Amino acid sequence: MKIIVINGPNLNMLGARDHHQYGTESLENLESELKRNFEDVDFVFVQSNLEGEIINFIQGASDNYDALIINPAGYSHTSVAIRDSLEICKIPKIEVHLSNISDREDFRSKSITASKTNGYISGFKKYSYFAAVYLAKILIANK
Ligand code: DQA
Repeated sequence: MKIIVINGPNLNMLGARDHHQYGTESLENLESELKRNFEDVDFVFVQSNLEGEIINFIQGASDNYDALIINPAGYSHTSVAIRDSLEICKIPKIEVHLSNISDREDFRSKSITASKTNGYISGFKKYSYFAAVYLAKILIANK
């Protein structure tokens, strides 16, 4: 099964960001851990700081992957365009956040993109991604 994991702006800087919110690991470490823990999954990992590029990844996902996992990062709270592209994409979709967005600044408490996914996981640092893969596999199996 093929799963694309899309990471948005500044997530390439994990490790150098607020450790309390995001943990200490780099994005590369997180990706290798996912590969190690889910050997049955064929992962494609992409990261972009550009809104349009993230939309292109989402638009390309339906025909090429069984499920999509996305951390839109700061765009979760602002991007109508990413929300619209998620609405069009018909494969199982899960939004993840490392931090607990409901326990931070008010402007982070609402994700406008999450409602166009099957659901979201927030607050478990790297384990948010582990949970998302676990759930994506269930959604794929029950399609
Ligand atoms: C984040 C939460 C966002 O509010 C923030 O802008 C990020 C990361 C998270 O994973 O906790 O860049 O999506």
